[in-house]
Amino acid sequence: MSKEFISTEDVAKTNPNEAKGKEEKTKSKSPIGTVNLDGVKNKIMIMSGKGGVGKSTIAAYLASSLAKRGYRVGLLDSDIHGPSIPKMFGLENKKPEVDEKGIVPVPVSENLKVMSIAFLLEGEDFPVIWRGPAKMGAIKQFLQEVSWGVLDFLIIDLPPGTGDEPLSIAQLISDFDGAIVVTTPQDVALTSVRKSINFLDLVDVPVIGLVENMSGVICPSCGDEIEVFGGGGVEKAASDFGISVLAELPIEPQVSQKADTGATYSYEGNESEWDRRFSNVVDSIEKLENNTKNDGN
Ligand SMILES: Nc1ncnc2c1ncn2[C@@H]1O[C@H](COP(=O)(O)OP(=O)(O)O)[C@@H](O)[C@H]1O
Ligand SMILES: [Mg+2]
Ligand SMILES: [Zn+2]
Repeated sequence: MSKEFISTEDVAKTNPNEAKGKEEKTKSKSPIGTVNLDGVKNKIMIMSGKGGVGKSTIAAYLASSLAKRGYRVGLLDSDIHGPSIPKMFGLENKKPEVDEKGIVPVPVSENLKVMSIAFLLEGEDFPVIWRGPAKMGAIKQFLQEVSWGVLDFLIIDLPPGTGDEPLSIAQLISDFDGAIVVTTPQDVALTSVRKSINFLDLVDVPVIGLVENMSGVICPSCGDEIEVFGGGGVEKAASDFGISVLAELPIEPQVSQKADTGATYSYEGNESEWDRRFSNVVDSIEKLENNTKNDGN
């Protein structure tokens, strides 16, 4: 019997190596169907084993950077319980307009637009329906009605963790082109990375790579890096699972200040270590689009 839903337990139990060998996997589409995102060329998931690791920050700066490189970019905040993307772009009081094609994402620049489940919420409270069993149906309907138009990249900030909610949303959106797994040095223990990789295996999303965030502090006087929690964890986890490390990002006060004051898009960069390393994350996503072009698609 094939399973309709995959659950948190499946994520904890499954061994990714075993699962890979099986012809028939437990992975499945959502029983309530999937969201149609036909005009989107590359759907990229940003996920993490837990909250507070910088997932939204990375999603927001990645979307901004790709837009500044000239791509048509959408940023979808699907974190129902901690939607933070609108605030990072100073859009928290915006209500998206609705036209004949559907819900219009809120523009940040000419080629960057944002949609957040937060735009649906009145104040900080959820409509009652969103707590009940109809929640996923309501989310699906909302996501289905967003008119993204043609996009080179849709960056999706998933709810944190590997529980039922991120699973349901990942199943609803489906057909991701890849995922970036965000960790911090404290969170980079093998069990946490394994959970994320099992999660991605179950929803059939390829891992693009790991980003270790807030991995250290760059000394402002000499430029040396102070590894506050000791280094090496992320490389070990990555090599154990045969995946790559896209970046080990230091703590960069400017990055959080801009984000916290709604000025993410106006961050210019200052050729800091953070900028240099983050550009590697952007490059690895940009490559997906260039590969698609070379395939003639
Ligand atoms: N590399 C970084 N340097 C400095 N502050 C950061 C960095 N990454 C994230 N932050 C800050 O840490 C906090 C949590 O980040 P956030 O992206 O909201 O995490 P998540 O989405 O995983 O819950 C935010 O205040 C953010 O500005
Ligand atoms: Mg977040
Ligand atoms: Zn120093």
